Parts: sequence; structure tokens; C-alpha cells
Amino acid sequence: MTGRWRAGAPTAAGLLAGIVVLSGCSSLTEDTGEPPGAPQAGQELLREYGCLACHQVPGVPGPQGSVGPPLGGIADRRTIAGSLPNTPDNLALWILAPQEINPDTLMPDVGVTVEDVDDIVAYLYTLEHP
Ligand code: HEC
Repeated sequence: MTGRWRAGAPTAAGLLAGIVVLSGCSSLTEDTGEPPGAPQAGQELLREYGCLACHQVPGVPGPQGSVGPPLGGIADRRTIAGSLPNTPDNLALWILAPQEINPDTLMPDVGVTVEDVDDIVAYLYTLEHP
């Protein structure tokens, strides 16, 4: 699954860039370097996928775990899980398949879909420091 996503992403991005240029529309997010995805949907997805069982997220009420690191301020971190440069693509890869990046990590693959991961990444990058 990860392999297919990796191979497909540049093509989709290229297509989008072409459409933006052709239509002369400069207000799409692809133009600004912002990660694609809808932060509001991402917050809900964090709940649905059970991320909150292990991660603290500032501003989100309810029981929150501390098995994994708190996710507040993650946009300012240089690396993800101590190894990967912190970019939207790498953050998506980590969420889709943590074991592909670090086979020994305690974070499980919770089955996030390619459709949902952009929203989750967009949301994570909005999080303030706690
Ligand atoms: C069973 C507990 C558990 C669940 C569920 C879980 N994680 Fe994690 N997560 C961890 C642990 C443990 C780490 C630290 C991994 C490491 O450093 O090897 C981690 C690391 C991370 C990191 C990197 C944090 C950093 O500071 O580098 C992100 C981002 C992350 N998780 C997001 C998520 C998202 C999004 C979900 C839900 C889709 C999720 N996690 C579900 C346990 C969990």
C-alpha cells in the first residue's frame, strides 16, 4: 500500500500543478506550500482512529494517553519519531506505516487510509505547543 502511495503522489501533484497553471487560479493550497487536507476533519479522525489513546493533543477534551509523545507543537519539530525529517509527506508516511520507518517502534499501524491521512497531517500542523 505504501509503495503504491509513494509512486502515485508525484503524479497527482504534477496533475494538480498543471491544472492550477492552466486555469490561472492561484488561490489553491498547492500554490502556497501548505499541506493539503482539512484540519477540521483531521481532528475528528484522530478520535476515530484512536490516536488519542496514546497521544496528548492540546485543546482536545476527553481521556488522553501518554504512551506516545504529546503532539502539540509538532510543526516546529525538526524530526518525526527522532529519525525522519519533518515534512508533510514524511509525516503522512509515518502515520500510514510506522513500522516501515522504524520496525521497532511502539506506535502501531492503526489502518489510516490514504484518503484520510492528508486531513490528519493538516490538523497536526495546526497544533500549538501545550
Ligand atoms: C498504541 C499507542 C499509539 C497509537 C494508537 C498511536 N500512536 Fe503515534 N506514537 C506512539 C509512540 C509510542 C510513538 C513514539 C514512536 C517512536 O519514537 O518510535 C508515536 C509517535 C508518533 C508521532 C511522532 C511524534 C514525534 O514527536 O516525533 C506522530 C506524529 C504520531 N505518533 C501520530 C499518531 C497518529 C496521527 C495516530 C493515529 C492515527 C497515532 N499516532 C496513534 C504510540 C501510538
